[in-house]
Amino acid sequence: MKTKVVHITEENLSEAAREAGELLKNGEVIAIPTETVYGLAAQIYDDDAVRKIFEVKGRPQDNPLIVHISERSMLSALVDEIPAAAETLMDHFWPGPLTIILKKTNCVSDIVTCGLDSVAIRFPVHPVARAIIDATGIPLAAPSANLSGKPSPTSAEHCIHDLDGKVPLIIDGGPCSVGVESTVISFTGKRPTLLRPGIITIEEIRSLIPDAVISPDIFRLIGSDEKVASPGLKHKHYAPDCDVLLIDAAKSDYVDFLLKYHKEGDYAMCFDGDVPDVPISYRTYGDSDSPEELSHNVFAVLRELESLGAKRVLIHAPGATGKNLAVSNRLIRAAGFKVVKI
Ligand code: TXA
Ligand code: MG
Repeated sequence: MKTKVVHITEENLSEAAREAGELLKNGEVIAIPTETVYGLAAQIYDDDAVRKIFEVKGRPQDNPLIVHISERSMLSALVDEIPAAAETLMDHFWPGPLTIILKKTNCVSDIVTCGLDSVAIRFPVHPVARAIIDATGIPLAAPSANLSGKPSPTSAEHCIHDLDGKVPLIIDGGPCSVGVESTVISFTGKRPTLLRPGIITIEEIRSLIPDAVISPDIFRLIGSDEKVASPGLKHKHYAPDCDVLLIDAAKSDYVDFLLKYHKEGDYAMCFDGDVPDVPISYRTYGDSDSPEELSHNVFAVLRELESLGAKRVLIHAPGATGKNLAVSNRLIRAAGFKVVKI
């Protein structure tokens, strides 16, 4: 299949959204930009189209998809009831990088939810994503547009790398501003439960709904046969095609570690100003005090190091609180939970 790439400008947005919408209505799967990461989209009322998402990504069959809407009125087909606390979060954070899990209606196919009785819903703020959903007129199921297990794509180039020849259209909306996937919160249990940290933090959520909790599953390695609230937590994630080791240390200890243990083929992935005074190649992923910058760059730098042929990446670990929890969580998983604490 030949993949067409359309770069969005102010002038061509509505025509490109119309073209994307036509393909989606006809059951095709295409890559679209959002403010978090690029998504691999299909319309939710065509089971064969949704099945194609799993095929193209090589996604495990038990990992449900997020449904993307462009108007709150689209919710009525997806869910019967919206708890008041969920409504509060929608009022405050939508459109934006927050995914809310609610009990689903029968209109939402089991192919989308992998048989769960709940559905994850996201209302992106990205104007191109919204224009494409509007043009389709149907909510879109869309996981991140990477091949399963790989770092999420935050630019059209990343999508081309993973999907060229596999989808008819990649919509290039430029680099994603946030860079890590949406915060996911579930309203299916006794208390609202954070299932995936993102740039919207648990502290921000608790300031509106104080009884929200973080799922302990976020912090641990989960066995492939365990039953967990968010099936995505079980699977290998965000990993480039090389070894990744996370080093949780102050700057001087990190540099000492590099000096002592680096091998041929290693790359350091460090903060601005860390510049390792050692004969090792490195890339920086931002200022250690700026979780926004680290989130924005994390997947692009992992992908760059993979393309440079790194055999092993030695990453200076970010903090793990507040807005840093999201990037820290992605890196721990990219490292397969291999963390050296000094
Ligand atoms: O920012 C984002 O959320 C991006 C963009 C494209 O919108 N999408 C994204 O989708 O990150 P994906 O498929 O890579 O991650 C969806 C996560 C998975 O961990 C999945 O297990 C979880 O959401 N999920 C989806 N539906 C669920 C449900 N009904 N119950 C529990 N977890 C669910
Ligand atoms: Mg993903």
